[in-house]
Amino acid sequence: MTGASGAIYAQRFLRVAARHYKEILLILSEQALQVAATELGVHLFRDNFSTRDWLGEEFENVRLLASRDYFTPPASGSFRHDGMVIVPCSMGSAGRIAHGISDDLLTRSADVCLKEKRKLILVPREMPMNVIMLRNLATLAEAGATVLPACPAWYGRPQSLEELADTVVARILQSLGVEQDLVPEWAR
Ligand SMILES: Cc1cc2nc3c(=O)[nH]c(=O)nc-3n(C[C@H](O)[C@H](O)[C@H](O)COP(=O)(O)O)c2cc1C
Repeated sequence: MTGASGAIYAQRFLRVAARHYKEILLILSEQALQVAATELGVHLFRDNFSTRDWLGEEFENVRLLASRDYFTPPASGSFRHDGMVIVPCSMGSAGRIAHGISDDLLTRSADVCLKEKRKLILVPREMPMNVIMLRNLATLAEAGATVLPACPAWYGRPQSLEELADTVVARILQSLGVEQDLVPEWAR
């Protein structure tokens, strides 16, 4: 998670993903902590981390990693995993990854995904975007990342903010190949 707006996407994604995957390694940028507190009204503490407050239940398999600890599995290409999702993804983090600036665990882990050809999904949010941002996203797509912007869909007539957010979360899950029943597949 980075400090882009849209902590709700991470919250709702994690609730489904935590039930699907054996283990989830969570990396929160400094700014992600601030934005999550602002948007969700929850305070995530590094020292006393619990998923109960913000995911509604305790998920033992969601493990928080220190954002500058490179002595952790995802910092190494030898660690095999099913993929990395950066949700929400700030333009700052996207720019650093696009230019190989691995200055924290999040950007290093993304760098590793690209060099190892592992799945990397970025969920950027910004508006409007300047040409630098657009080029950075294009660079990431060219390098093999999936750029899945936080563009919620309205055609299913969502009845709440959660349902609206789930239109994005469902696409992240589908992109990972995870069965989801948050949003029905479009069928005519
Ligand atoms: C309330 C709030 C909302 C923000 N929303 C966005 C956003 O939607 N997109 C973005 O790129 N940056 C946004 N920012 C700015 C980022 O938090 C800032 O660029 C930060 O340096 C990103 O750092 P990080 O990528 O390490 O988390 C927001 C900042 C605040 C305080």
